[in-house]
Amino acid sequence: MGAVMEGHTLASEIRARVKQKVEDLKRSGIDVGLGLMIVGDNPASLQYFQATINIAKSVNINTHEYRMPTSISLNEILNSIHDINRDERINGLLVIFPLPRRINPRRVVNAVLPEKDVDGLGSVSVGRLAAEESTFQIFDERFSKPANDKQFLPQYAEHLPCMPSGFLPCTPFGVIRLLEYYGVQLQGKNAVVIGKSLAVGKPLAIMLLSKEATVSVCHKSTTNLDFYLCNADIVCSATGVSGLIKADMIKEGAVVIDIGINVLNDGRIVGDIDFEGVLKKASLVTPVPGGVGPVTIATLLENTVRSAQNNALLNNPLLIVP
Ligand SMILES: NC(=O)c1ccc[n+]([C@@H]2O[C@H](COP(=O)([O-])OP(=O)(O)OC[C@H]3O[C@@H](n4cnc5c(N)ncnc54)[C@H](OP(=O)(O)O)[C@@H]3O)[C@@H](O)[C@H]2O)c1
Repeated sequence: MGAVMEGHTLASEIRARVKQKVEDLKRSGIDVGLGLMIVGDNPASLQYFQATINIAKSVNINTHEYRMPTSISLNEILNSIHDINRDERINGLLVIFPLPRRINPRRVVNAVLPEKDVDGLGSVSVGRLAAEESTFQIFDERFSKPANDKQFLPQYAEHLPCMPSGFLPCTPFGVIRLLEYYGVQLQGKNAVVIGKSLAVGKPLAIMLLSKEATVSVCHKSTTNLDFYLCNADIVCSATGVSGLIKADMIKEGAVVIDIGINVLNDGRIVGDIDFEGVLKKASLVTPVPGGVGPVTIATLLENTVRSAQNNALLNNPLLIVP
């Protein structure tokens, strides 16, 4: 019988550190702000939008909400983003997906300044990740060790430059942090990522590769998923297909990360994995909800505060946050 790899503890430690940094910046006269943009009224999107606002407020990050009607044009969205880029109160922007089909999502994410791309989805952020210019963050122990760990870097290390190297996408970065928080060794392990989206699967595969795991990426056209899974030490599923991964498909003792979020007809929220069955065979399994999700939001807020720190430091290199 495996153990449950919950995300609330790590997420609350990250939030506590974020809250402290927000207070430190406030003492230097700087408020931290997050912009959130939603188009339409998809219930799941609205729920994520509101949850992120509530959690941001709980750590004293100001929120700036942009609620757009489904009928909005791409030009109007881009104009709003240009305004946000110039708005000194806003340090990062989260655009909630999916957007209406007629809106090109790449135009939207690429309009966000890389310095404010706290969700790490723009081409500059993606390129920096692929070029290993931002992966140093996944080797930085401050991001995964428990808050009371004595090996934490000193306070000044909070100002290590990260803006030129961009922000990492929050969900895959959250997965790596959760794995490390639970002491899962990645180097030399066989990892299978199911899903190849730009938001989750692809960047996660790059991050696991940076950690020197041997990575296979599976997707809809993968004909023999079982073949890859039966040899996988680490399985990360991000498909949005409930019940896709069952116990008989995974290796005894595997670590299984469920990123999928699926709302069933009866209103229950489940992941991609048959949680009860897989838990009997795996060593660690993340639940849905309560696994990767809370760490994703905490990481987004942390990226936002780092954006504010970078901006403050660039404008005043002698800034000493009390
Ligand atoms: N927990 C969190 O914080 C968090 C954050 C973001 C997303 N999510 C959830 O994660 C899931 C994936 O999100 P996404 O944005 O990556 O979705 P997406 O863009 O729709 O991508 C889904 C991926 O899964 C693959 N796939 C679909 N059905 C499959 C199957 N039967 N077998 C193998 N691969 C299959 C697709 O393959 P093709 O590319 O071949 O079509 C695609 O690469 C969703 O449920 C989403 O709600 C969770």
